[in-house]
Amino acid sequence: MENQKNFYEKLNEKVESKGFAFTVLVTVAILIGTLVELPPFFLTKQVEPIESVKPYNALELAGRDVYQKEGCFNCHTQMIRPFKWETDRFDPNKAYGPDPYSKAGEYVYDHPFLWGSKRTGPDLAHEASIRPSAAWHKKHLINPRETSPGSIMPAYPWLFENELDIEQTKANMRALRALGVPYTDEDIAAADKLLKGKTEGDAVIAYLLKLGRDTMVQEEE
Ligand code: HEC
Repeated sequence: MENQKNFYEKLNEKVESKGFAFTVLVTVAILIGTLVELPPFFLTKQVEPIESVKPYNALELAGRDVYQKEGCFNCHTQMIRPFKWETDRFDPNKAYGPDPYSKAGEYVYDHPFLWGSKRTGPDLAHEASIRPSAAWHKKHLINPRETSPGSIMPAYPWLFENELDIEQTKANMRALRALGVPYTDEDIAAADKLLKGKTEGDAVIAYLLKLGRDTMVQEEE
């Protein structure tokens, strides 16, 4: 009987019955798997930087905060997928070159990123090109039905009454600098001027007009 034990029975006797050794071996196997799966160990450059992409200025950043606070991302994505129906729809002006879908390098200064997943409204990643008019956005935010008959988007009239918190935006910029966004002291000081007398609505419009602005293909001169 003893000789007829197969490989697995022997393995069981040798290793699996020894609780401690088995635990150590399993841990080692999982650690090796983890190392292999973790990209930072093997990829020096995960995201190709796009040189034209610049950090948000103070007003745009304040608008980004409003966008998060109001939960706009619950209905809007900011990521154009590489499908023809999507690139056709979100690059009507042919402003983004031969591959007009979103690239990782566009989001390097986004903490947190606001890709979203619910596409109730249109994707906003190319809004600077698709709707470049601040006046249109103001009308639309105050009453979406006025510019877009039948729209189910909620109205946000109070955004144009609420003032911005300049110190909060500056603190936000300092925090982002700690995360690697290259803000200078001048960029942060500029918040005083950029935000003075502006409303949350002005800020969110500045933010919308920044979306996709840096990656538009420049006209040859
Ligand atoms: C309940 C879902 C919903 C929420 C929340 C929402 N939207 Fe919308 N949004 C839509 C829909 C649907 C449309 C398309 C109809 C229209 O133009 O109003 C739209 C359209 C837009 C457009 C025009 C896009 C284009 O290119 O035509 C902008 C800009 C926009 N929304 C910004 C915002 C902002 C900023 C917020 C937050 C303050 C917000 N939305 C919140 C549903 C939503």
